Amino acid sequence: MIIAIDGPGAAGKGTLARRLAAALDLAFLDTGLLYRAVAAKVLADGHDPAVPAVAEAAARSVTFADLNRPDLRREGVGQGASQVAAIPGVRAALLDLQRRFAGQPPDGKRGAVLDGRDIGTVVCPGADVKLFVTASLDSRAARRQKELRGRGEASIYARVKQEMQERDARDSARATAPLKPAPDAVVLDTSEMDADSAFRAAMDIISARTAAPPA
Ligand code: DC
Repeated sequence: MIIAIDGPGAAGKGTLARRLAAALDLAFLDTGLLYRAVAAKVLADGHDPAVPAVAEAAARSVTFADLNRPDLRREGVGQGASQVAAIPGVRAALLDLQRRFAGQPPDGKRGAVLDGRDIGTVVCPGADVKLFVTASLDSRAARRQKELRGRGEASIYARVKQEMQERDARDSARATAPLKPAPDAVVLDTSEMDADSAFRAAMDIISARTAAPPA
């Protein structure tokens, strides 16, 4: 069973995807971490994440072991990730890793939950269930700020909101695999939901989509 969860940043898809994977005993892959790992490599070498040749070389060298780097969640790495993610050669280099994870999930699991921006549209177009998790810009910016403060990163709300808007625009406008719901995705707006309600709503959608049709 493959569950694809896409949506913009700070809409709650990471928390939701992790909980769904645990509840359904599936493997879990946060694909944003792959793009973050590419950006972190480029930045650590003092290069510009927007330069295709450098970012593509970093993408070709990324492995799952790189996803444990402690600095990947930093805001600067997130912005860099959004830049490298717009480069088609970077996306192509990461595609195979993601598809292999979905096709042969680790630890003998019978399936996987993948979260990202293009899972339902490009990485796993045949996924059993596709969710597009979104929320208003204000609620996402408030959540991101809480998350940053929780990690001790200083943040100003107006700046967090502006950077989020820039990242949304870049992720949605890029030519290759832009952020958009797959035609067969169910849209879940979490603006007015806490994590528990989002989890319940998602489980209901999954049950409805995966229920065996009456004989
Ligand atoms: O979900 P995140 O904030 O960790 O993602 C970081 C960036 O990576 C995001 O701005 C867009 C990009 N990304 C992508 O293009 N495709 C994915 N499947 C996952 C992330």
